[in-house]
Amino acid sequence: MQANSNFQNLAETYLFAEVGARVRKYQTEHPDTPVIRMDIGDVTLPLAPAVAEAMNKAVGDMRNAATFHGYGPEQGYAFLREAIARHDYKARGIDISEDEIFVSDGAKCDIANMTDLFAEDTIVGVPNPVYPVYVDSNIMAGRTEANGKIVYIKCDSTNAYKPLVPEGKKIDVIYLCSPNNPTGSVLSKADLKAWVDYARANGSLILFDSAYEAFVSDPKLPRSIYEVEGAKEVAIEVRSYSKTAGFTGLRCGYTVVPAALKARYADGSEVELRKLWLRRQTTKFNGASYVTQRGAEAIYSPEGEEQVKANIAYYLRNARMLREAMDKMGLQAIGGDNSPYVWVKAPDGLGSWELFDLLLQKCHLSTTPGVGFGSGGEGCIRLTGFNSYENTLKAIERLAGLDL
Ligand code: MLT
Repeated sequence: MQANSNFQNLAETYLFAEVGARVRKYQTEHPDTPVIRMDIGDVTLPLAPAVAEAMNKAVGDMRNAATFHGYGPEQGYAFLREAIARHDYKARGIDISEDEIFVSDGAKCDIANMTDLFAEDTIVGVPNPVYPVYVDSNIMAGRTEANGKIVYIKCDSTNAYKPLVPEGKKIDVIYLCSPNNPTGSVLSKADLKAWVDYARANGSLILFDSAYEAFVSDPKLPRSIYEVEGAKEVAIEVRSYSKTAGFTGLRCGYTVVPAALKARYADGSEVELRKLWLRRQTTKFNGASYVTQRGAEAIYSPEGEEQVKANIAYYLRNARMLREAMDKMGLQAIGGDNSPYVWVKAPDGLGSWELFDLLLQKCHLSTTPGVGFGSGGEGCIRLTGFNSYENTLKAIERLAGLDL
């Protein structure tokens, strides 16, 4: 069998695997200096009690023949899709119906799997820096910067790390993430409108990664791209319960593919992307488990909503503290206000991995090197609020003692 040569165009290891390996090596060599993990954005708080109780009850259902559940509906159980449509959209004045919602095992998988829908010669546009899954999944499908199928969108400190609508070359699929991973920047409604206008004018698709929408605390900032008029005709929105409700280990999220979103085949005929996604999912995916979906449903109960909000506030406080600490140290930083991530510029001349190593050696802190998110992230690191309050305080103390 001949292997998929596109893999030869990928970096040897996935970013977080590389970071993890370096931290493990350091920890083995220094067993008495516990490293505070501020790299991968993994939650630390346990499941909200309402979620855990709903899952316990669902396990009970599975123990009885009368309430047992085998294969579920491919798009997800109606009880969860209805809760999503009602709470995440209709309650905010957005008309999304349950038959436009696809429950899945997480945003990362959905975003990566979406490439199945693109024609071979599709040109994708990604900001730089960017969540590596957008780029790597396209490289696996044969797109590279060298063959012109991956185009980088300008996104740097001159524009507060907000991707700028390009002039000139047409991009078929645009990846946007707000609140942004890794930079913590957040797009305003006007920013999103500019992209929706571009997509409508060029017949492009926007893949909107909204995995961190729960961290938006400024009511003026949008949490869904569908807050922009006309977005349903050009955008897919992907959401996750990982960071919203601590589901990183459970796996559940959802993708909205509006009925109004159409594309064309090579022969010119029109097709609803929703139909293609359903066809793709029914072929390659068997759904998130019944127990997990009952847990996700509980997030929308009054108690669940309160408990999950408290957890988000906890992580946001950590992120804010980190951001303030960076400001105090005189380092250029953004994020940490409507986002769990803080993006920090290294002091003069230091590269991302150099600062990563320095912080690991001197402060026993692991961070994510910005260059791992693309060349545009060189010279920066990412800190995360997903840690305990106590560890965040400890990390800040260690950083304060550092002479950079
Ligand atoms: C991150 O740290 O960027 C995320 O936790 C990774 C992910 O969500 O897959």
